[in-house]
Amino acid sequence: MATDNLRNTDASRPLVELKDIRKSFGGVKAVDGVSVNLYPGEVVALLGHNGAGKSTLMKMLAGAYPIDAGDTLIAGEKVNIRTPAEAQAQGIETIYQTLALADNLDSVANLFLGREKMTAWNTLDDHFMEVQARKVFQRLNKNFSNIRIPVRRLSGGQRQVVAISRALYFNARILIMDEPCAALGPEETAMVGRLVKQLKDDGVGIFLITHDMPDVFSLSDRLAVMKNGKLVGTYRTADVTEDEVLGMIIAGKRPEGKAQAPHAITAATGATGATGATVTATA
Ligand SMILES: Nc1ncnc2c1ncn2[C@@H]1O[C@H](COP(=O)(O)OP(=O)(O)OP(=O)(O)O)[C@@H](O)[C@H]1O
Ligand SMILES: [Mg+2]
Repeated sequence: MATDNLRNTDASRPLVELKDIRKSFGGVKAVDGVSVNLYPGEVVALLGHNGAGKSTLMKMLAGAYPIDAGDTLIAGEKVNIRTPAEAQAQGIETIYQTLALADNLDSVANLFLGREKMTAWNTLDDHFMEVQARKVFQRLNKNFSNIRIPVRRLSGGQRQVVAISRALYFNARILIMDEPCAALGPEETAMVGRLVKQLKDDGVGIFLITHDMPDVFSLSDRLAVMKNGKLVGTYRTADVTEDEVLGMIIAGKRPEGKAQAPHAITAATGATGATGATVTATA
């Protein structure tokens, strides 16, 4: 895949550096000077109340909204991501809160949406896409077989499989998950958890937006809390309690006597970053 080489990333260097990022909608400062880093093999939970600016910050990284001000560095290089295609070219894949699936198309078409595989005769290579899609879907859910019906007829968990499959198949090195478990049952939530751990081991960096405290504490290495567009603080998850996190989310109050962690402690993430290709079902 095009992004294979993007995974060979030094674990001691941030994959993503967002510096003093700003975005206003009319008079609303949705994101107001936020800086946050993400390292290979690391999960950073992005937390905050409704309207805190989490999705807006991630949409700028994903190329869905232009940045008003601030800098984005990917693997140490300053980039200007203006479209989702430019984000994808950097190895950034996004699973949106709304999943952003084309409801009338089937799962195979959704996996390859905008990145269709063509034959030498410039027709859609349906056979190739179906074989590849089946492989990647079944890795996530062995029982997922009705891949040729419109996705609007699938269950929430199956739709989630389709959305996550895009990130897997196209070899994301940076994954943004915006409330990936919000509409899922316990079994499907556990599946997402296992997948996050697998991607971490492969050196993928993950921004995880969630309101779910158990997910925060079981999946994230660090957490960054936003309130009213501003960053309250960034901490190692192991250094803070649930009450302290809730205090930051609700009152914008930083925990006393706790050191912030704007950078990962790389030894703790254990990322090798060199074996990313094992996740993908490439031909
Ligand atoms: N496209 C838009 N046009 C106008 N205002 C917007 C737009 N997107 C977001 N906003 C505003 O920006 C602020 C931040 O919204 P955002 O969706 O980023 O919050 P969030 O932290 O993701 O919240 P939630 O937990 O509800 O998803 C809110 O005040 C919201 O109303
Ligand atoms: Mg949101």
